Amino acid sequence: MTVWSWCARILEVPQRLRDMAQARDYRIRLRAAGSGISFGPGIHIEHPEFVEISNGVHLNAHCWISVIAPAPGDPPPLLTIGAGTYIGRFATLACMRRVKIGANVLMSDRVFIGDALHGFSRIDLPIKDQPMHSPGPVEIGDGTWIGIGVCILPNVKIGKHCVIGANAVVTTDVPDYHVVAGIPAKTIRSLA
Ligand SMILES: CC(C)(COP(=O)(O)OP(=O)(O)OC[C@H]1O[C@@H](n2cnc3c(N)ncnc32)[C@H](O)[C@@H]1OP(=O)(O)O)[C@@H](O)C(=O)NCCC(=O)NCCS
Repeated sequence: MTVWSWCARILEVPQRLRDMAQARDYRIRLRAAGSGISFGPGIHIEHPEFVEISNGVHLNAHCWISVIAPAPGDPPPLLTIGAGTYIGRFATLACMRRVKIGANVLMSDRVFIGDALHGFSRIDLPIKDQPMHSPGPVEIGDGTWIGIGVCILPNVKIGKHCVIGANAVVTTDVPDYHVVAGIPAKTIRSLA
């Protein structure tokens, strides 16, 4: 190992300590946290009080969990991640009402899953200023594999032991044991 790589390692220490403190803080603030959860560096969880993470989940580097706080009178949102699930780097999980990720799901890098949309019907108002709404919950079945760069849109239920091909955009439900790919995602084979 060179002097420069030693220096680089030493310079990383403050960031690593910050990441460890952050992970500890999230574990305390989550609505429910199982044992053996591991956090990669640079993870961000907005409103962890609406997030439940089960045993043995690994959230890899720079994954963002973004939960929108409920408006007064609205029911509380809930995002759950089942035991043994692996969330890849740079995943974005966005929840306004309900996102349920099953157990032992394998999620590759750069996946987006969200149950909410920006309103865009008013043409006199920038879209960023229009209220968001949730067309329906998102559910991912146990043991499913979600390929790299996949986008799963609101109101979609994916069954158990499915394969979602790389870069797919999933707009409709996927039954158990199906392999889908493409934009919009279509069945390419059934495993059952
Ligand atoms: C879906 C996948 C698993 C392949 O499944 P498969 O059942 O072996 O599919 P095949 O390779 O036999 O392809 C079947 C058809 O689907 C198409 N296809 C396969 N993967 C596709 C994809 N990601 N997007 C669009 N079309 C795809 C093939 O071109 C083929 O089309 P054709 O019948 O018109 O020739 C694989 O292509 C894939 O996307 N894997 C994810 C890889 C990944 O994300 N890795 C990250 C590391 S965890």
